[in-house]
Amino acid sequence: MMKFSYYNPTRIQFGANTIASIATLIPKESKVLVTYGGGSIKKNGIYDQVKDALKDYEWHEFSGIEPNPLVETLDKAVAVAKEKKIDFILAVGGGSVIDGSKYIAAAALYDGEGWDILEKKHIVTKALPLGAILTLPATASESNPTAVISRKSTQTKLAFSSSAVYPKFAVLDPSAMVTLPERQIANGLVDSFIHTCEQYLTYPVGALVQDGYCETLLRTLKHLIERFNEHDDLLWQENLMWAANQGLSGLIGVGVPQDWATHRIGHELTAMFGIDHARTLTIVQPALLREMISDKAAKLSQMGRNVFHLPQTSDIAEKTIDAIEALYRSIGMPVRFSDCEITDPETPAKLVAALKEHNMIALGEKGNITPEISEKILTKAM
Ligand code: NZQ
Ligand code: ZN
Repeated sequence: MMKFSYYNPTRIQFGANTIASIATLIPKESKVLVTYGGGSIKKNGIYDQVKDALKDYEWHEFSGIEPNPLVETLDKAVAVAKEKKIDFILAVGGGSVIDGSKYIAAAALYDGEGWDILEKKHIVTKALPLGAILTLPATASESNPTAVISRKSTQTKLAFSSSAVYPKFAVLDPSAMVTLPERQIANGLVDSFIHTCEQYLTYPVGALVQDGYCETLLRTLKHLIERFNEHDDLLWQENLMWAANQGLSGLIGVGVPQDWATHRIGHELTAMFGIDHARTLTIVQPALLREMISDKAAKLSQMGRNVFHLPQTSDIAEKTIDAIEALYRSIGMPVRFSDCEITDPETPAKLVAALKEHNMIALGEKGNITPEISEKILTKAM
């Protein structure tokens, strides 16, 4: 195993009807900015619950944070936070609202251009405190230090991480999921599945705890995918909320090699074509696993045995990739560009140009996914 330092300060409030507990977690004298997206929280009663919980606080709101949040929108919230002298941010939504709120929290304490944070010209060491009420289990942004932000003017999607933006708490109330469209539930399932793969499908280092926990999460997510039609069941929802959280809140990735190439390439697909985050991943990952099969054969075989219960044959690694792809297809996820009606043969070259521009030139757990290999992967995915 590799050396590691593990820290996760986010308190988890888990279970139905836990939203009211935010009143015990946000300091009473705080001026709160409640941030949310396009209004789904007004349809499922979450907004009203937040309003009740904040009745003794001075609070303001900022709505309209879009999926794949745009810096152009978020900078308006930063201006509100500065003008109203906000000292606590409460993000209510999915990964986009929570990521966007991390940016707002950091940019509110920075006098320069906010985009500097994404370009690493400004390293975030302080931010306003924030809390999260999760409405879409997928990204684990509610208890990790990362945010992914887009800039419309340049079609760029970049990430930053800072321990200053860990949410102080995350409310995981599965009743928030009642209004989720099936498309977003499917997105959440596969995003979590692929987060786990990014920290597991590399090469073995003998990390029994991490491998075992990853396999549990992968089997859990596979089980939920196979019972997709039970997604209105509270226990089904609870299991997805917790599995998605554990997939990217840091624990499974300690001491082991990590890949993330599928994510880096996927972000370019969202920036260029506006494809949902999770759907970019299901297009890229099977092709990437096939291209990198010799590097990943040992872990693919282990996953085949322990997650898909495949027999130990000489082609088990290939069969595991086929099983992963079939799992995605079973809930209607695209696994080729053509499934999203993208057929321009120049697509791989255009995406590779964007990867190079963003310095994504040595991806994967060994840094050996060069632009040439990325182009091969993207061509396989056509
Ligand atoms: O805006 P509202 O009205 O809330 O609607 C949202 C949005 O349209 C809707 N939604 C959320 N909860 C709902 C609901 N609709 C009905 N009922 C509910 N309970 O779902 C739509 C998508 O929401 P979004 O937040 O964009 O989805 P997701 O949670 O998948 O987040 C995706 C973003 O997170 C980033 C992605 O790149 C993408 O920008 N990621 C963040 C990561 C992190 N911070 O660690 C890691 C991930 O790999 C990912 O990159
Ligand atoms: Zn993801």
